[in-house]
Amino acid sequence: MSGRSAFLWGAATAGHQVEGNNINADIWLLEQVPDTRFVEPSGDACDSLHRWREDVGIVAVLGLNCYRFSIEWSRIEPASGQFSDAWLDHYARMAAACREAGIAPVVTLSHFTSPRWFASLGGWHNREAPALFARFADRAARRLAPFVSHVVTFNEPNLPLMGRWSATPLADPMRAGLDAMLAEAARESGSDRCAVWVYSRGEDAALANLLAGHRAAKQAWKAARSAVAIGMSLALPDAQPVGDSAIAAYRRFAERPFFDVAREDDFVGVQNYGRMRVGAKGVVPPVADAELTESGDEYYPRALGAAVAHAHEQTGRPVLITENGIAAADDAQRARYIPAALASLDDTRASGVPVLGYIHWSLLDNFEWRRGYTQHFGLVAVDRATFRRTPKPSAHVYAREVKKRQRSRVWANIACSNERNAK
Ligand code: BGC
Repeated sequence: MSGRSAFLWGAATAGHQVEGNNINADIWLLEQVPDTRFVEPSGDACDSLHRWREDVGIVAVLGLNCYRFSIEWSRIEPASGQFSDAWLDHYARMAAACREAGIAPVVTLSHFTSPRWFASLGGWHNREAPALFARFADRAARRLAPFVSHVVTFNEPNLPLMGRWSATPLADPMRAGLDAMLAEAARESGSDRCAVWVYSRGEDAALANLLAGHRAAKQAWKAARSAVAIGMSLALPDAQPVGDSAIAAYRRFAERPFFDVAREDDFVGVQNYGRMRVGAKGVVPPVADAELTESGDEYYPRALGAAVAHAHEQTGRPVLITENGIAAADDAQRARYIPAALASLDDTRASGVPVLGYIHWSLLDNFEWRRGYTQHFGLVAVDRATFRRTPKPSAHVYAREVKKRQRSRVWANIACSNERNAK
């Protein structure tokens, strides 16, 4: 780990989005059914299953000291109760290789995907779900805990609640399409259900199970090694009121249940992709002349600092920024974005908010879920035919911004005081 400052500078990926052929996962199945709502299947993804050493090497070459990746539950436990030591070894090798390269491995246990068998038992609606997740977390902890620095139990578990709050669920054609796809996947699995949290309505009973799963997984990891820092990562746009705003209702619904639990954790994970303007009835679209990103979102880098301050204010916990970035067809936009977002983070840190690290999304151009390979979040381009990785100019901009801060005395002092706060 790098010298005097423990501040983490990283880049992130997620198993299903980069590994390839994640065939026992529920989302793989959703990609295959006739009525799929995915524009294309994930297929080989970035072939990181075979090229992960190269990925770790790029993180190191960029001068970063942290790599966030996820472990795939459906590989480790392809059938309920059957664990694969070989796959656990695979992820242990990845984490150990990071350590050897001076890179802190930040490991996500659940990044949107679950095993098919788990989805066909009702996913988080199943009363047994917390125990099933804890059993997996326990096996992973026993093998990986010696290497891992931080664990993120769930990636953006509040996302379905954001969707439910802001949309008109039953009449919404997108919702109907998702339901049809899930029903086909259920039939395909020989079950009457296929429950995939990220495409759910975020129902209360399932949410209670998921939060119980978070606590149980944390316990398993703490039992294996108490020094591992554990939290969950929340989707946190910088929510801003517009006019007679329903923002308080939004926060009660999509943030509070998670902040309440995060208060017990070692850190709160923040994933920020801009601002969200909230009017009386819900989300207000960007103003007409707003600059947009490739994904049609507003380009608004200073949202990062605000979201970080809010997460700390609500939880009292130190913040780990586990994702931040933009989809950019033109890499020059990302190259502008990174210094601007980091400047807003500087301001927030200077105001005394403890921040443990910043992890950019994403290391690689990868499989962007229902939008397939059409979105470019990567610091590194990946040739879809050869899988060749080519760092983009924005990767070098990021590396320079990191170096500048690592060398700055003022910045290092803030980092040290954060370390104290974090204990
Ligand atoms: C997710 C990533 C996704 C990114 C960009 C986050 O919500 O964690 O998996 O690729 O946003 O959309």
